Amino acid sequence: MTDSYASSRNGDASYNGVPNGSSPSLAQTAQSSPMTSVIRKKLMGFVGFSNLPNQVHRKSVRKGFQFTAMVVGESGLGKSTLINTLFNTTLYPPKEPLPPAADRPKTVAIESIGADIEENGVRLHLTVVDTPGFGDFVNNDDSWKPIVENIESRFDSYLEQENRVNRSKIVDNRVHACLYFIQPTGHSLKQIDIEFMRRLHTRVNLIPVIAKADTMTDEEIIEFKQRILADIQYHNIHIFQAPTYENEDEETLAEAAEIASKIPFAVVGSNQVVETPDGRQVRGRVYPWGVVEVDNEEHCDFVKLRQMLVRTYMEELREYTNDVLYENWRTEKLVSMGVIQDPAVFKETNPAARMQEERVLHEAKLAKMEAEMKMVFQQKVQEKEAKLKQSEEELYARHKEMKETLEKQRNELEEKKRRIEQGRPLTPDGKSGTGRKKGFLQRT
Ligand code: GTP
Ligand code: MG
Repeated sequence: MTDSYASSRNGDASYNGVPNGSSPSLAQTAQSSPMTSVIRKKLMGFVGFSNLPNQVHRKSVRKGFQFTAMVVGESGLGKSTLINTLFNTTLYPPKEPLPPAADRPKTVAIESIGADIEENGVRLHLTVVDTPGFGDFVNNDDSWKPIVENIESRFDSYLEQENRVNRSKIVDNRVHACLYFIQPTGHSLKQIDIEFMRRLHTRVNLIPVIAKADTMTDEEIIEFKQRILADIQYHNIHIFQAPTYENEDEETLAEAAEIASKIPFAVVGSNQVVETPDGRQVRGRVYPWGVVEVDNEEHCDFVKLRQMLVRTYMEELREYTNDVLYENWRTEKLVSMGVIQDPAVFKETNPAARMQEERVLHEAKLAKMEAEMKMVFQQKVQEKEAKLKQSEEELYARHKEMKETLEKQRNELEEKKRRIEQGRPLTPDGKSGTGRKKGFLQRT
């Protein structure tokens, strides 16, 4: 095994074209082939990348998992009891002794109950968010509001953490699954349930459950489940669908099908340990006609629900929350803030095509700069030429003027010479003439 691994490493080295003197076989390979060709050795035997899932697993285990579920539904359907059942503890110890006139302890505010669970070295921080039951008021129209707000504020906190400079310690408090409790009426969904689910399904993975399933017979439950599913479909409510993948073994496929067939889960909650007629100690509810066992799959779907949440689909629930629900919410939020996403930014580009594109852009930029420089140069030349021409004209004009002046002086001198030669003296009082001479003398 070690040998084949070593040969694979050699293969890598020759692939990189880095000659390694310590490896004679490699030197030979390098000599026998042209430098440009890429040598691909077939990797034989065990390389070790099949250990990748274990590496990912180790990393996740080190970091631990965060999972948050929420329970929603009408008051008194056993939401708090189910949470206690899930954690196998009495998180809400009954306030003993209850005053005789007092009601059972109702949930009055949205509360989170968390627990760090460790199993086979895997750490899970499980949080369940308990919400106050609705339906007690005359007008229940807006009772979904605080719940949706709570879900969105968790998205907000996640977004805020994502935008921080240091994102290494993001705490994921987003709700990954929402158990929606349906009253075991045996009829169909109530208007308030439809309204609630429609408000919730775009923000959270909805998992419908039939509360207090021990109050219905098996046949009633089967019929009720079908009616609920038909209603959900009719009202276009999206509930969490357990995904199935190809290439999965039969056992996993069977488990997935089994879980899917139980939705909506018919659950029974109880944290009481009771004794069955055959002497076993179980968590359940005692009736004059027998004991309903919470952890018995023949009696209710509690085990399947827990299996779905914690064992089979936790990662899928987390993924769908992050990739679809949170992403949609984020987009909606940014659009409402006026930020428009440029889809081109997320377009996948081929690096070679991108380099080519950049080169074309760069060349265009250079050509533009060159044209601009040429234009500026030409402009400067023209300006200079115009200036030169102007000064030439000025020079020419001056030259002409001087020439004329000289010509005039010469004429005058010649005139003088002629007069002297003819014996005509210069007129002493020739004012106009002297004026001119004076002018001439002054100028020189
Ligand atoms: P709110 O906090 O008001 O929303 O109620 P809740 O949904 O949290 O209900 P809670 O857990 O307080 O339970 C209400 C009553 O129903 C209690 O008396 C429970 O003992 C009882 N109960 C809970 N689960 C079940 C169940 O599965 N079957 C039956 N028959 N009774 C249940
Ligand atoms: Mg409660």
